Amino acid sequence: MIGIFDSGVGGLSVFREIRKILPEESYIYYADNANCPYGDKPAGFVIGRAREITEFLVKEGAQIIVVACNTATAAAIGTLRAEYSDKESQETRQRMLDLSGGRQDHIMFIGMEPAVKAAAKITKSGVVGVLATSGTLHGEKYINTRDHYSNGITVVEHVGKGFVELVENGETSGEHAEQIVSASLKPLLDAGADTIVLGCTHYPFLTETIRKVASCIAPQREIEIIDPAPAVARHLLDVMNEEGLLHNLRTGAADDSNREYPGTAAQETAGTGSVRLVASSSSQILDRLYSRIEKKELPLRP
Ligand code: DGL
Repeated sequence: MIGIFDSGVGGLSVFREIRKILPEESYIYYADNANCPYGDKPAGFVIGRAREITEFLVKEGAQIIVVACNTATAAAIGTLRAEYSDKESQETRQRMLDLSGGRQDHIMFIGMEPAVKAAAKITKSGVVGVLATSGTLHGEKYINTRDHYSNGITVVEHVGKGFVELVENGETSGEHAEQIVSASLKPLLDAGADTIVLGCTHYPFLTETIRKVASCIAPQREIEIIDPAPAVARHLLDVMNEEGLLHNLRTGAADDSNREYPGTAAQETAGTGSVRLVASSSSQILDRLYSRIEKKELPLRP
């Protein structure tokens, strides 16, 4: 079973890409919407939540975890890997065996990668715009990636101010959403950006609005929008393959598809693996957005 978490519904933009290439797997998705947004919270707080959610997901049967949140990846992935992935450490092995009921002695984490490298390859204007949360933009991981791949190009950044709240409220289009998007997108377009990196997993749900606003601000410019989710999904597939975790490779693994999950917000079986959605606060938007994705009412790619 694959565990996925985010501060809210944003990670569903990663989940929909994962599900496309791994339809047979079972999933548990955790939206920490009681604590959303993570973007401007101290790193120590985000690390604490990431630990707690990891332990919950492992206890519930997750064999690998996707940190479908750029902010949590920036703050916590190093700590998570040190505390739960290191199978050379006796302490880690014991902790993981206790948590998983003896099922596994370590767990791998897949994090979000800021897509500056991909953007640098395709920009024609030589200016790449990055939209992300404050936590991501100030994180070491992002700064290192940006500095490494920005040779010969200019990278301009802006916090997507209010974007997460729009998506959490289910307000992904309309005049108000356009105004909010415009305020953060305009500085990037004014700086000459023709390629926009979505550095927060909530933002892909605003892609149509971002396009519409961009075509008003810079009508002559062809804008590319980059969402790293498909690349993250492919990386997950590779790691699961290496770890022997793929559904059709597993032998003798417990069949978790019929397990009972008290407190489950939603569980569905689409003729494939099971999907369980869990929220730390109301699950209304999570359920609604998930069912729109399942019905393909939301575009799959930016
Ligand atoms: N979706 C998250 C991200 O990718 C978190 C946004 C937030 O909670 O501020 O950064």
